[in-house]
Amino acid sequence: MSQQLIFTDSPALELDRIAGDISSTGRIFILTDDHTASLVLPRLAAESCVARQAAVITIPSGDVNKSLDSLARIWDGLVEGGATRRSLMINLGGGMVTDIGGFAASTFKRGIRFVNMPTTLLAAVDASVGGKTGINFHGLKNEIGVFSQADAVIISTVFFDTLPVEELLSGYGEMLKHGLLESLDAFRKLMAYDITARDMKALLPILEDNVGVKRRVVEEDPTEKGLRKALNLGHTPGHAFESWAMHRRQPIPHGYAVAFGVFVDMILSHMLYGFDSGVLQQYAVTLRNLYGTLPITCDDYDALIDYMRHDKKNVSGADINFSLLASPGHIRLDSIVPEEQIRQALDIFRDLVQ
Ligand SMILES: NC(=O)c1ccc[n+]([C@@H]2O[C@H](COP(=O)([O-])OP(=O)(O)OC[C@H]3O[C@@H](n4cnc5c(N)ncnc54)[C@H](O)[C@@H]3O)[C@@H](O)[C@H]2O)c1
Ligand SMILES: [Zn+2]
Repeated sequence: MSQQLIFTDSPALELDRIAGDISSTGRIFILTDDHTASLVLPRLAAESCVARQAAVITIPSGDVNKSLDSLARIWDGLVEGGATRRSLMINLGGGMVTDIGGFAASTFKRGIRFVNMPTTLLAAVDASVGGKTGINFHGLKNEIGVFSQADAVIISTVFFDTLPVEELLSGYGEMLKHGLLESLDAFRKLMAYDITARDMKALLPILEDNVGVKRRVVEEDPTEKGLRKALNLGHTPGHAFESWAMHRRQPIPHGYAVAFGVFVDMILSHMLYGFDSGVLQQYAVTLRNLYGTLPITCDDYDALIDYMRHDKKNVSGADINFSLLASPGHIRLDSIVPEEQIRQALDIFRDLVQ
């Protein structure tokens, strides 16, 4: 990955430096959504010459707007602002902005350079790093897109102070996943940090270690042929919980679903590979304290298993594929789990977190 990852307390200074390095002639564009336009951009522009001089393109916020309409709006903004192949785009926002902005930049004039400045924890730890860009299409998530690396990702926690606690917890769910993929030590350190205390200064070095996990995995397998599937830990049951909650019209944030999904995967890992039950019990306590419970009953199992079966990660329609762990840091990819064991795991899940 030829991408620079910069962790900093001074994002404005880094932006000016990076923009100077990358673009000597082309015009600079900043993409925001309507929240980051009012909450983040003015603070950045107060300290960054590049941000003050850039042309600003703003799209409506929310994942429903990671759409073809917004994409056209971004391309329009680039054309109207006189963008050339030497232009640079700065994506200032959460994962929705970095996903669609990366895609817009990668397709405009066959690709202009772009820099991600994630303003949510989820975007910092996950979406802004790793080169997946795209939009939703025909009601399907991330249906259209390309792998394309940002030239640089400037990660700072200074803009996180306006994030609602749910957004912080959602990002923390993905961080827990990375911690488990790394080692028991990394996982324990992470669990010892209280995200709800909102200590943003302490968060930056933790984030740096944590994003390093994703970075190393992506470097080895940029286009998800093998190892990158490790990042799907928690996501087979997590996506099922997300769909189930959506169906009940009580949607839960993605990172919450992942945090619960990781727990199901830990239980399966215990059943299949002897994953340590002490770690599992400890995680159950953290999970309950931070994310509460998920009110599933045994009547929901059929629907949940159905969602898991239709997960796009499954190669064949019949098998259900999980990324599991023998222990923290020891990954077992492509674990096919029979339905009966999934039902048992869901029983244990309910026992321990409800
Ligand atoms: N490319 C990838 O590898 C990858 C990985 C994970 C998720 N994603 C994508 O990321 C998106 C989810 O990311 P997200 O949770 O950041 O969503 P998001 O970008 O929709 O941001 C969530 C909300 O927070 C607001 N916001 C952003 N920064 C803020 C700030 N500093 N203060 C206050 N509010 C702020 C946004 O306007 C939005 O309303 C989804 O589209 C998902 O598909 C992509
Ligand atoms: Zn995820």
